Amino acid sequence: MRDLLAGNSVIPVIVIDHVDDAVPLAKALIAGGLNVLEVTLRTAAAEEGIRQIVKQVPGAIVGTGTVCTPDQIKLSEDLGCQFMVSPGATDKLLAAAQESSISLLPGISSASEMMRCMEYGHQDFKFFPAEAAGGAAMIKALSGPFSDARICPTGGIGLHNVMEYLSLPNVLCVGGSWVCPAQLVKAQRWDEIEQLARDASQLGR
Ligand code: 3PG
Repeated sequence: MRDLLAGNSVIPVIVIDHVDDAVPLAKALIAGGLNVLEVTLRTAAAEEGIRQIVKQVPGAIVGTGTVCTPDQIKLSEDLGCQFMVSPGATDKLLAAAQESSISLLPGISSASEMMRCMEYGHQDFKFFPAEAAGGAAMIKALSGPFSDARICPTGGIGLHNVMEYLSLPNVLCVGGSWVCPAQLVKAQRWDEIEQLARDASQLGR
């Protein structure tokens, strides 16, 4: 995960309600400089949307988000995704991910959850829901006992607070939907999404 995410400060968390939005949305984000895309498996259109992005958008590094079951790991592989993100982590999911050809960024929100994932070999984590679970202060605190771990906080992050996270040395990148807000996707305002992506891609560390 670390190699894949290196150099990408912001990972858009994408919700696809209509298949036809998938390719133009991915193209707008990439044109704005964000090429690692997390497409959540939480809508009926997600599967076909991912299939189309993988086939039709060169340069996109596509991963699945909201991966909660071993079946969704299999689906992610079948779709040709390059990574997977989960909101939390169960032993069943972690065991299935160990057998997978693609990497999982498991979700954690406590030291114990992190330790359980470490037992399966993970060193990189999604911290979710970031703002509600303690925010930047929590990530800073986790860096004491877990100095090798790297964290991708997600949940409640936007331009107003993103630098609190990106300035922490143990933060690898942040995830968020603020670069592809539902109302802009619904209105197919791709230029505005491209601009949001550009602003996000230029955030300094
Ligand atoms: C998610 O997986 O839903 C992310 O946490 C997105 O959170 P956000 O919509 O607050 O950016």
